[in-house]
Amino acid sequence: MAEKLALLGPPEPPHDCPICPRLVAYREENKAKEPTWFNGAAPSFGDPQARLLVVGLAPGRMGANRTGRPFTGDFAGVLLYETLIKFGFARGRYEARPDDGLELIDCMITNAVRCAPPANKPLPAEETACRPFLTARMAALPRLKAIVTLGDVSRKNVLKALGAKASSVPSGHGVEADVGPYRLFNSYHCSQYNQNTRVLTPEMFEDVFQAARAYIDA
Ligand code: URA
Repeated sequence: MAEKLALLGPPEPPHDCPICPRLVAYREENKAKEPTWFNGAAPSFGDPQARLLVVGLAPGRMGANRTGRPFTGDFAGVLLYETLIKFGFARGRYEARPDDGLELIDCMITNAVRCAPPANKPLPAEETACRPFLTARMAALPRLKAIVTLGDVSRKNVLKALGAKASSVPSGHGVEADVGPYRLFNSYHCSQYNQNTRVLTPEMFEDVFQAARAYIDA
C-alpha cells in the first residue's frame, strides 16, 4: 500500500501549485488585490480517518480562496456545515472562519479542483490536471466508505479519479451507486443559486447525508 501511495503522488497540492496557467494567473491577480487572503490551493479539511468524503467543485474566490478552508466563507458553506453538524459529521459552531474551532468527525471535505477558478468554472483541462490529487486523496483515507458528490462536476471527477467512466453512475440528486469499494451519494451542489432557486432545499440536502450516515453506520 505504501508503494501504491508513493506511485499516486501527494493527496494535497502545494499552496502555490504551478500546474494550471490560468488558475495561477487568477491566483496572482487575487493576491495582488487581496494580499492578506489565503490565495492558494485550498487543502482538504477534516479527519484523516474519515469514512465519509465530501467532494465539492472548487474554492470560491471569497470562500476557500480567501480563508483557506473548503466552503468556509461561502454561502454554500452554511448549509454544508450545518448539515454535517446535524448528522454528527462535525462538532462545534460554523462561524465562516477557519479558526472557528469547528471539527469534522469521521468526515473530510475536499474539492475536485483545488484552486479557485474564474467565475467558479474550472476548465476540463484543469479538472484533468487536478484529478491525481483527488485519486490520491481518496487512496490516502484508509477507512473511506462513502463519498458525497456535490454537483455534477464533482460526480464526474470522482468517477474518473476512481478509474470509472463518468457515465457509469447517472447524474441526479439522491442517486446512489457502488464504485469499487465505495458507495457514492450524488447531491445537487449547495450553491447559492441552487438554494435560492429551490433546486436544492435543506430537506433534500439532509436526505443525502442521512442516507450516507445510515450506510456508514450499518
Ligand atoms: N467552496 C468550495 O470549497 N467548494 C465548492 O464547491 C464551493 C464553494
